[in-house]
Amino acid sequence: MPSNTILTGQVLSFAASPFDDDATGAAKLHEAVHISGGHIAALGPLAQLRASAPDADVIHHPDALITAGFVDAHVHYPQTAMIASWGKRLIDWLNSYTFPEEMRFADPVYASEIAGRYLDLALSNGTTTMASYCTIHPASVTAFFEAAQTRGMRALAGKTCMDRNAPEGLCDTAQSAYDDSRALLREWHGRGRLEYVITPRFSPTSTPEQLAALGALWAEHPDCLMQTHLSEQVDEIAWVRDLYPQARDYLDTYEMHGLLGARGLYGHAIHLEPRERDRLCETGGALVHCPTSNTFIGSGLFNTAVRKTEGMRVGLATDTGGGSSFSMLRTMAAAYEIGQLTGTPLHPAQLLWLATAGSAEALHLGDRIGNLTPGMEADIVVLDLASTPAIAQRHARAEDIWEALFPTIMMGDDRAMREVWVNGSRMSA
Ligand code: GUN
Ligand code: ZN
Repeated sequence: MPSNTILTGQVLSFAASPFDDDATGAAKLHEAVHISGGHIAALGPLAQLRASAPDADVIHHPDALITAGFVDAHVHYPQTAMIASWGKRLIDWLNSYTFPEEMRFADPVYASEIAGRYLDLALSNGTTTMASYCTIHPASVTAFFEAAQTRGMRALAGKTCMDRNAPEGLCDTAQSAYDDSRALLREWHGRGRLEYVITPRFSPTSTPEQLAALGALWAEHPDCLMQTHLSEQVDEIAWVRDLYPQARDYLDTYEMHGLLGARGLYGHAIHLEPRERDRLCETGGALVHCPTSNTFIGSGLFNTAVRKTEGMRVGLATDTGGGSSFSMLRTMAAAYEIGQLTGTPLHPAQLLWLATAGSAEALHLGDRIGNLTPGMEADIVVLDLASTPAIAQRHARAEDIWEALFPTIMMGDDRAMREVWVNGSRMSA
């Protein structure tokens, strides 16, 4: 049963993007938030909310920051059990660790076990929505959606399609990728809080025929998102050039096959050519920044601030298990560190926005999740800003909310999640 509850603390909502406005002016703090019927009913002073909802329970969190649940815009739930596998770069990492693990998802029982394990890890880290890749096995999609449905989560996922350059047991065909994706889409898309995402893994593991088949499926279902990888590592880009000699660049391998559009999610997108940047701007496709993955696999430095200045839609993501963490706090910290290396440090308001409203916008869900405003779905995190002795002693010196939050972004983990709410229900004590 969704509750009728007022939470008090420092309730943060964004009135604008801190990339458009002055970073701190975009955020507003309120004393309390009223949750009712699974939605945010109102924000404001406690006395006012109490007067309009006298029956609501009140839970006080005087020092905590109450924010929208985190949104992870790119993750591979099947890579949960092989996270932190040592010492390879992208193509070797895929062949040595990822593909053998993904083969195990031929067993639906294993898929269900890992889907539940992954979603519990995500929730314990304050992540209430994610866009996940599954494996080529349709049952891996079913396992994920069933596990998300049980938890009441707004979740997005799709069958990963590959018909070349992968082990035989992990290959489908152009036709079966189309047929299986279509069947799953029809079964799950728009069911409760679930959305199907058309998912060609990346150009090296799809033939042009498979990309075209999935492009056709997207044209038939334009309300779906499409997710893939783009220009993550330099070696990968050279490989794509060999595999698609007629394409102008990596993005063109998607564009030629109907896989470029506003509802496209392009993971990594680090090493873009000017034409690719222009086309992404024109079409409104979203780039998904995966900072812990980019350092862990050694991919390169994504320049968030510059991409935002160019007007691009940018989401933030763990990319678990290429990414080295399930935590969007750790992911924000890594985005900050990469910003430092590119000479464009991100403000804490920008980091928090990327992990909530920014990722929600990338997923075209900005009107439902990712922000605490009346009418939005009540996916909420109550963040303890003094969750460890090291953080607490730095927090004690903070002079404003951003200084109070930044030590938790840089040093916090699941211990900072005092409460996580999904669709108006409290998930953890
Ligand atoms: N490119 C294609 N597949 C993958 C994957 O599973 N992880 C990452 N990081 N990059 C990819
Ligand atoms: Zn990925």
